[in-house]
Amino acid sequence: MSQFDLVVFGASGYTGQFVVEELARRVSGSLTWAVAGRNRAKLEAVLAEASKHVGRDVSEEAGVIVADVKDTASLEQMCSMSKVLLSCVGPYRFFGPPVVEACIANKCHYVDICGETEILERIEEKYHAQAEKAGVHIIQTCGFDSIPADLGMLFTIQNFPGVITQAESFHAFKTGPSGSSVHTGTWESLIYSLANDSELRKKRTHKAAFQWQGPKLKKRGNVFKAKETGHWCIPFLGSDVAVVRRSQRARQTAGQHPVQYGCYFNPGSLMACIMMYIWGLFIYLVTRTMWGVRFAASHPGLLSLGFFSEDGASRKQLSEATFSTTFYAKGFTDKSLVSSGGKPNASVTTRISGPEPGYIACSIMLVQCALCLLRGDLPHRGGVLTPAVAFTGTDVIPEINKAGVKFSVLESS
Ligand SMILES: NC(=O)c1ccc[n+]([C@@H]2O[C@H](COP(=O)([O-])OP(=O)(O)OC[C@H]3O[C@@H](n4cnc5c(N)ncnc54)[C@H](OP(=O)(O)O)[C@@H]3O)[C@@H](O)[C@H]2O)c1
Repeated sequence: MSQFDLVVFGASGYTGQFVVEELARRVSGSLTWAVAGRNRAKLEAVLAEASKHVGRDVSEEAGVIVADVKDTASLEQMCSMSKVLLSCVGPYRFFGPPVVEACIANKCHYVDICGETEILERIEEKYHAQAEKAGVHIIQTCGFDSIPADLGMLFTIQNFPGVITQAESFHAFKTGPSGSSVHTGTWESLIYSLANDSELRKKRTHKAAFQWQGPKLKKRGNVFKAKETGHWCIPFLGSDVAVVRRSQRARQTAGQHPVQYGCYFNPGSLMACIMMYIWGLFIYLVTRTMWGVRFAASHPGLLSLGFFSEDGASRKQLSEATFSTTFYAKGFTDKSLVSSGGKPNASVTTRISGPEPGYIACSIMLVQCALCLLRGDLPHRGGVLTPAVAFTGTDVIPEINKAGVKFSVLESS
């Protein structure tokens, strides 16, 4: 019998502290929870800090579990004590697989905020059958990567006035007068993810082709002005497209047609797009050699011109920031028109918006995914699943909405 309903692993990390606070705000009644990590003193300090922000002493109610990814026995013990584990221990390339294994072995459900595309697909390939057999849900990308994209697509499909065949989403980020910064934990994950992108391409070669329907999705340039938003944009290079495509593959396997998808990002101006593109190319080239990867991983401030920092964003910076992800979807009013060769005659515009995306909205979405898992009644009995596949038919979107990340239909015709 598990001692705790929910356990935050990596609670002492920069992101972990916000997840602990968000969880402390949301747990109610008889739910039991704990923080876990490799250093008890740090975990106790996180609970003390969270108590200041949530307005009650959570040190009294939360358990503390000491566990280290490098100590399998401690992982096994932590997972045997938990019903749902929220893992904030990254880079997931290094720390994900042992935790997933311990969860499956101990029948503990798992959610994380991984955005490292190659390891996501590796974990799916290696553990899906085992997790399904054990009846354990392993649901990654429950943070900003890739809930707005994946559940956003699910929401858009659900609200489409007919048969949807394609959708594009545009992320927009607003920072306040205090500026912004990202913690180096994300930098490390980004660097190792880029360094391993060739493994990803090899892995995908054996997969069945998509049976797309309707006109082909327009190919966008590396830098373009989107007429939908009126802004200069570049392709968004996070895990969103890969995760949404996995969800669409699952739709295809289930006999529904997959939806073509593209994901972009508005850095602010044409000049910002060009600078971002050149910077991205530079980082990509640096990560082509092992020496470059090691150098980049250990010099985040230098290579990001100070944007990534050990301190991360201040609370003021976080409180001033917001995000929105807007979907423009097209399709047909009737199934019979899809293969007619005609132009789409139906559309919907949806938006997912909320507070600062990387830590505040991320914690809201992760905690709601964990709570949804805990409530049970999911459509699959287990497996390594994308959020859209795992949570189809559940109340996760309305619950995320209530918690402060809004899903809305802007226009439908
Ligand atoms: N998808 C999203 O929206 C999103 C948003 C933010 C972050 N992230 C991802 O979340 C991850 C964490 O980022 P972060 O900025 O919070 O990094 P961080 O501050 O470095 O946190 C890493 C956490 O992992 C723990 N850890 C490291 N090695 C461990 C081990 N051997 N055993 C147990 N715990 C270990 C650390 O514990 P100690 O405190 O003891 O060092 C710390 O709690 C990154 O992969 C990042 O990319 C994703």
